[in-house]
Amino acid sequence: MKRGAIMVLGFLFLLFNVSPSSASDDRRQKWWKWPSSAGNSICSSVVLPLYGNVYPQGFYYAQINIGHPPRPYFVDPDTGSDLTWLQCDAPCVHCTQAPHPYYRPNNDLVPCKDPLCASLHAGDHRCDDPGQCDYEVEYADGGSSLGVLINDVSLVNLTTGVRITPRLTIGCGYDQIPGPSYQPLDGVLGLGKGKTGIVSQLHSQGLIRNVVGHCFSSRGGGFLFFGDDIYDPSRVVSTPMSRDYRKHYSPGYGEVIYGGKPTGLKNLLVIFDSGSSFTYLSSQAYEGLLYLVTKELSGKPVKEAVDDKTLPFCWKGRRPFRGIRDVSKYFKPLALRFSSGWRSKTQFEIPLEGYLLISSRGNVCLGILNGTEVGLQNFNIIGDISMQDKMVIYDNEKQTIGWTPANCDRPPRPDAMSI
Ligand SMILES: *[C@@H]1O[C@H](CO)[C@@H](O)[C@H](O)[C@H]1NC(C)=O
Ligand SMILES: *[C@@H]1O[C@H](CO)[C@@H](O)[C@H](O)[C@H]1NC(C)=O
Repeated sequence: MKRGAIMVLGFLFLLFNVSPSSASDDRRQKWWKWPSSAGNSICSSVVLPLYGNVYPQGFYYAQINIGHPPRPYFVDPDTGSDLTWLQCDAPCVHCTQAPHPYYRPNNDLVPCKDPLCASLHAGDHRCDDPGQCDYEVEYADGGSSLGVLINDVSLVNLTTGVRITPRLTIGCGYDQIPGPSYQPLDGVLGLGKGKTGIVSQLHSQGLIRNVVGHCFSSRGGGFLFFGDDIYDPSRVVSTPMSRDYRKHYSPGYGEVIYGGKPTGLKNLLVIFDSGSSFTYLSSQAYEGLLYLVTKELSGKPVKEAVDDKTLPFCWKGRRPFRGIRDVSKYFKPLALRFSSGWRSKTQFEIPLEGYLLISSRGNVCLGILNGTEVGLQNFNIIGDISMQDKMVIYDNEKQTIGWTPANCDRPPRPDAMSI
């Protein structure tokens, strides 16, 4: 892993599921057994430690254990996409550098008629080869993975202390095109709400409630969890997931609040994306925010500075800054305000640590970037930097997104979790 500079801009936000060219329809009927959900009596969770940080490393990652015997893989937890895939020796046509040997697939191919295959190919699902399910996913930064779906077991510890080995459908990715935000990992952990998402798969096997969350620590690391028995719901602020925009985890439209005051930068379609290290605003809102921030700095002893290439706006003081505390006189906290129902509003607070960082040269840099410039069109993305030191909870059953301030340094102990 490279240090000292931001080498990678985590940015995994699924743009397309592309089905590789397909021709003939397969009309043979095939029966596929689908595991049934085990009612409402589920009260276990899975907690995975996270490693990495927003700066200088530029991404967080988790370890999953796949195969028989289980082998470890480092994957990028991505709420912006559904499919979990590993760089795969199938053999590999084009793989990128990875921390572990490429995954060696078993022969348990997912057939084309499988509902998970169909859900990946929404719209034009045809089966060239009924025996397998080809996939291609393309992310917002232009990176992609092409491969085939397989079933394999994953070794998972439940918070109840039980160790299980559920069979999961994952992608064996044998042809990757790295985007500019490419990360040197073994694959992606798809936490999106689609059927192929890990959470949905564990849920349909009756193992957990259909809830996923993360807690990124500003000191690095943190944890990820599936299921709902590790937080106190009464302390969580939540807002409904958008009914109009369902593809990603979105609370709908929000307004930027700066220093506690509405800014008029509103009607911003917001998405929570753990696959993105930084936060992105579409150009108008970005420019509006820059205006407010620079206006606030005028007359103060800070000057614009050139620093890391990926962070276009940095400022230096008379002496190098050592921490965010050194700049607290110069900046104001931000927030995003969402309407969470008839006349009620919910606010997602972004303290200085959630949008500023101190570079290795001791400058303070804006951790919010221009989304329009990187092709995000009108989407506004809340990335890892703004979600640090909070538990962020995506409840696919209640259809809500919630958050609560938290110490993310250590996963909660199992005995402290049950209510
Ligand atoms: C499960 O828990 C055991 C015992 O605490 C630990 O040694 C092991 O690494 C854990 N395995 C996984 C897959 O998390
Ligand atoms: C943001 O990006 C758009 C599109 O590339 C560009 O036109 C605009 O000038 C950028 N704004 C800033 C402040 O960089």
